[in-house]
Amino acid sequence: MKLLSGNSNKPLSKKIAKFLKSKLVNSSIRKFSDGEIYTEINENIRGNSIFIIQSISSPANDNLMELLLCIDALKRSSAKNITAVIPYFGYARQDRKVVPRTSISAKLVSNLITKAGADRVVTVDLHAGQIQGFFDLPVDNLFSTPIFARHIKKKIKNKNLICIAPDVGGTERARALGKLLNVGLAIVDKRRPKPGQSQVMNVIGNVKDKTCIIVDDIIDSGGTIINAAKALKDRGAKEVFVYISHGVLSGDAVKKIKKSMIKNLVITDTIDNEEKVKSAKNIEVLSISSLMGEAIKRISNSTSVSDLFK
Ligand code: R5P
Repeated sequence: MKLLSGNSNKPLSKKIAKFLKSKLVNSSIRKFSDGEIYTEINENIRGNSIFIIQSISSPANDNLMELLLCIDALKRSSAKNITAVIPYFGYARQDRKVVPRTSISAKLVSNLITKAGADRVVTVDLHAGQIQGFFDLPVDNLFSTPIFARHIKKKIKNKNLICIAPDVGGTERARALGKLLNVGLAIVDKRRPKPGQSQVMNVIGNVKDKTCIIVDDIIDSGGTIINAAKALKDRGAKEVFVYISHGVLSGDAVKKIKKSMIKNLVITDTIDNEEKVKSAKNIEVLSISSLMGEAIKRISNSTSVSDLFK
């Protein structure tokens, strides 16, 4: 078994390699002056099981193309099998046609990864679980909720907790975290008048004097979470903590979070945000590397991955 890293998140790839006491395959991934991507594997990988680690994070198009070209290079180098390890699966938010005449990007990206030659996919907190069905390959969707639950139990001593889904789509995720913490659930009724804009209509459940734990898969512009935090505070919540798997953090999201009423935002390192969040005292990054490393080990040894979440 060997690990190859794309350029999207080298710090995470190195941590996974360290966990597995392995080295990253020697490769050259660079750009021609016109922006085209060039990939070359600089060592023999004939007959090896290869795990290529690459997030489809910003710049999403370049990182996706890099992933596809790496898979193609691995296939043409006679790898025995290729697992696409995609900590952040971008383009997943368009998973159905919500209005007529739109694309379903999650399906197209799944087709591209399959066509490029991947034999298996490993990812973390897919935006919608059913995207697994867009692949006719095994897909292991890992969950960050146990990591979040451990952190909450250690860091938040207040016992008057409640888990919050920031929109109806996030109910299952918030319920799963609530179950691990043995606390109740409230739901924010969010509407999107336009892409990139969010509006809170209502909060379903009583949050008065409670310490609220909002949980979601993605924080992008920050609008969803900041509006949800304000709505909770307006309804008497004591304090608001936020746990998000993927810190997309586009535009001035970090600046907005710093100024918001969010006490602490915890994200994982599925996206490399080292530089971006350095100045934010209320943003903390938890590493997902040991969970991913353990899953890779289990896939490699053909042992259960789901046992990790029992
Ligand atoms: C949407 O369904 C996702 O789960 C997130 O709530 C959304 O992508 C967050 O976006 P933003 O931070 O831009 O409001």
